[in-house]
Amino acid sequence: MPAQSMDQLVSLCKRRGFIFQTNEIYGGLQGVYDYGPLGVELKENLKKAWWTTMVYSRDDVEGLDASILTNKKVLKYSGHEETFTDPLVDCKDCKNRMRADHIKDSKCLHCGSTNLTEPRPFNLMFKTNIGPVSDDESYAYLRPETAQQIFTNFKNVIDSTSKTIPFGIAQIGKAFRNEITPRNFIFRVREFEQMELEFFVKKGEDESWHEYWIEERVSWWEQQGVEKDRIEILHVPKEELSHYSKATVDLMYKFPHGVEELEGIANRTDFDLGSHSKNQQDLNITTEVINNKDSNAKLAVQNLESKEWEVPYVIEPSAGVDRGVLAVLNEAYKEESLENNKSRVVLALKPHLSPIKAAVIPIKKNNPTIVDFSKEIKDKLQKLGLGRVVLENTGNIGKSYRKHDEIGTPICITIDFDTIEDKTVTVRDRDSMKQNRIKTEDLEGLLRSLLQQ
Ligand code: GAP
Repeated sequence: MPAQSMDQLVSLCKRRGFIFQTNEIYGGLQGVYDYGPLGVELKENLKKAWWTTMVYSRDDVEGLDASILTNKKVLKYSGHEETFTDPLVDCKDCKNRMRADHIKDSKCLHCGSTNLTEPRPFNLMFKTNIGPVSDDESYAYLRPETAQQIFTNFKNVIDSTSKTIPFGIAQIGKAFRNEITPRNFIFRVREFEQMELEFFVKKGEDESWHEYWIEERVSWWEQQGVEKDRIEILHVPKEELSHYSKATVDLMYKFPHGVEELEGIANRTDFDLGSHSKNQQDLNITTEVINNKDSNAKLAVQNLESKEWEVPYVIEPSAGVDRGVLAVLNEAYKEESLENNKSRVVLALKPHLSPIKAAVIPIKKNNPTIVDFSKEIKDKLQKLGLGRVVLENTGNIGKSYRKHDEIGTPICITIDFDTIEDKTVTVRDRDSMKQNRIKTEDLEGLLRSLLQQ
């Protein structure tokens, strides 16, 4: 059973230092959050898992880390200036603004009034000024998706790596959208991270690659602990497709507030590379692209048999890191009843995602021999490079176990007087709460095997 409500997750995240409202001491900033000491580890681990699967385990994908500040021409030719909008309505009575597609029965979501303006398009991109002169022309955008910087680097990557299609470029990074109504904790925010792959394929092979990536992505979420039966596969109806898409499948997850998009997997055709390319008329482009007068690069590949230039099609699995964090937290959250009318909160995260992999706990807080030995064990385990290991020297074993259950630490290692004599420790397992006595030399093997799960 996952969490019952968003409030449980929000409260755990604040209490234990996963996620905080940004600038809280000044009243916050709507739709923007900060990741605390544990949140930063969890988020990094999720991104690492994505990068390992999408880049390291394949020979047909290369990585990229491009800039956030984006030349306005990129977002002109991508179609974002024209079409990256949500329909906005104002309530004439309470003056609140909301998305027209979020309204039910034509009533204001805040006061119930039906005295609303007609919907009008509201562009979601953030602009900022570049350089010391601030005029109408000196602006750039904060990227609204990481994808465009992949398309504009297509030629650089091909030229520097000699890749041939099919191949992909992967990127993880921030994206910014001036959402009309940010809400549901980190689900819909104005500053977030995406994990995107743009996979370039031959036209005609695009549909089978689309199927392939849908399966791959569902299986990856399962490996992160997201139950398959809580993911719905939604074929986005034609009339709701983005301007670039021939077909999109959304992986819809049962978040605490409802079933919503976790990841989108789109067939973007040859629209993007075609729109950003020069000499468009010579490239056999199959979709209606934007007539480009500014690009200095031909974003196409030559067919070795026919010698014709072709613009690759793009299959794009695009996942939100923050929505991923919310989904894995939701899946892992459990409240369990124990004996003697007690209960515990446990975060049954997959160990590779856990912010802390092991806590080393000296049984006596003030005993130098035990504390020194504990530090030695902590240092040895930390040096393995398997993730964070902490020394938990509170002197209260029960309290330490509760804390580490709540933050998802897979094992606690207790050092006592026998440890000094026979070099054995007690290992307590988070999920079963069982305790085992093992040799200190076996700790490395145990940790390594846990992280394979
Ligand atoms: N490049 C394609 C693209 O950006 P999208 O469906 O708009 O497609 C992809 O976004 C993913 O980014 C979504 O599935 C979601 O996980 C995440 N995302 C989008 N908007 C978000 C927001 N305002 N807050 C948090 N995550 C968001």
